[in-house]
Amino acid sequence: MENRKQVITAMETYAKEHQVPIIDTESLRFLVDFFAKNQVTSILEIGSAIGYSAIQFADQLGAKVVTVERDEQRFELAQQNVLQAGLEDQIELHLHDALEWDFAAAYPQAQFDALFIDAAKGKNLQMFEKFAPYAKKIIITDNVLYHGLVETTDHIRNRRTRQMIQKIRTYNEWVLNNPEFDSYLERIGDGLIITLRKDENHV
Ligand SMILES: C[S@@+](CC[C@H](N)C(=O)[O-])C[C@H]1O[C@@H](n2cnc3c(N)ncnc32)[C@H](O)[C@@H]1O
Repeated sequence: MENRKQVITAMETYAKEHQVPIIDTESLRFLVDFFAKNQVTSILEIGSAIGYSAIQFADQLGAKVVTVERDEQRFELAQQNVLQAGLEDQIELHLHDALEWDFAAAYPQAQFDALFIDAAKGKNLQMFEKFAPYAKKIIITDNVLYHGLVETTDHIRNRRTRQMIQKIRTYNEWVLNNPEFDSYLERIGDGLIITLRKDENHV
């Protein structure tokens, strides 16, 4: 759809101009391909920003996407973008802090083919614990290398950055060694951890 392409290009320009972090091209291509190979048709996304990745997943995979954002201005932009892209039947946007959201009340017994964790990077572990039970088989965590800083030694001066990087490291080790799942690191974009549930009978 020509208009949708224009909306997507305008979103990329807006994100660059306003420093909104959106998924990089390489990671997006990888995920679309990976989701397609795994017949993913429903995605729960934590961290919508202006709706860019949700629109790409809905457009390229025909997937249904439920996504949550806590920043009101970004949420409103995401709503406008979804409408302009004509994807309001496929994307449900929510304005909440994901960790405070009564998700079970909003989506009782919901199960999604994939969970995409792309919110506050220091909160990956809490996001995983809260939302992984709703993912049938695939959980993706983005930015796990945090611009390469996660793997460098501790020369980072800023205390808050250091603490956040430590949290990302703790999460990465925890998820990579979690016996319920098979997880591996994909060194593309800013680093993705792909997690697959071992128990296929999970509901
Ligand atoms: C990296 S951006 C998301 C990018 C988006 N997935 C994309 O690729 O187009 C992360 C977003 O998560 C939001 N966020 C951070 N912590 C959150 C939370 N606890 N609940 C909901 N949204 C959160 C931020 O406001 C930010 O807009």
